[in-house]
Amino acid sequence: MGSETAQEFYGRWARFYDLVARRTPGIPRLRRRAAAACRLDRGDTVVEMGCGTGANLPYLRERVGPEGTVIGVDFTRPVLDRARDLTAAYDNVHVVRGDATQPPIGRANEIDGIDADDDRGIPDAILATFVVGMLADPAGAVDDWCDLVGPGGHVVLANAASSRKWYAPPVNAVFRAIVVLSTPPTTKFRYEDDPHRRLDAKIDAAHTRLRDRSTAIADETHVFGVVRLTGGRIE
Ligand SMILES: C[S@@+](CC[C@H](N)C(=O)[O-])C[C@H]1O[C@@H](n2cnc3c(N)ncnc32)[C@H](O)[C@@H]1O
Repeated sequence: MGSETAQEFYGRWARFYDLVARRTPGIPRLRRRAAAACRLDRGDTVVEMGCGTGANLPYLRERVGPEGTVIGVDFTRPVLDRARDLTAAYDNVHVVRGDATQPPIGRANEIDGIDADDDRGIPDAILATFVVGMLADPAGAVDDWCDLVGPGGHVVLANAASSRKWYAPPVNAVFRAIVVLSTPPTTKFRYEDDPHRRLDAKIDAAHTRLRDRSTAIADETHVFGVVRLTGGRIE
């Protein structure tokens, strides 16, 4: 996706998106489950890629406690401002601007000015919710995140895609309308007039790659089968 288009889009919709991200029925439960699937201990370091307005960050902070470190990465400034406001009370939650496909986090550890408690600089877990569908190569990004946490670390994905439940047709009709409305227009026109198919393919590729690279911790659906949650311990 053109990253400028995505940044403009999410920048413009930051306030509305924040409401949807935190208040949609079923989503707070999903966020709690996703944070649990990261299998964090107190004192751990967790990175959220594409953290948006920060809706997952309090759940992650709850898991790592005051002695752990939570880092949210996103490339859209206005959503990061909201994420910073949301987490202002925690001094161990950091929100940084960066590209999730080239995260400013590495084995040498350095995000500007952050002294992560884990001095190896390797996150214990990476979480990405509703993000991989926006990436040009979702499976490649999942590979990079798996490499970043290394064996024994955890990677967790949650994404919306067409439901496969028996009652899917009406649910998918609503889902498709939401995808069309929420896809930045340039992306929509550039590729095809059926953005949900493209989205489904990306989500499938990312979740399949995570399953291939890991031992399953969680593989479940939420919100009428539209939201898939996959979590794994990297082998
Ligand atoms: C649909 S929102 C999801 C936000 C959050 N993860 C949540 O669950 O509410 C997608 C977010 O991913 C961010 N994003 C997309 N591609 C990105 C990239 N390559 N690097 C960093 N952030 C990215 C966007 O700026 C946007 O805030």
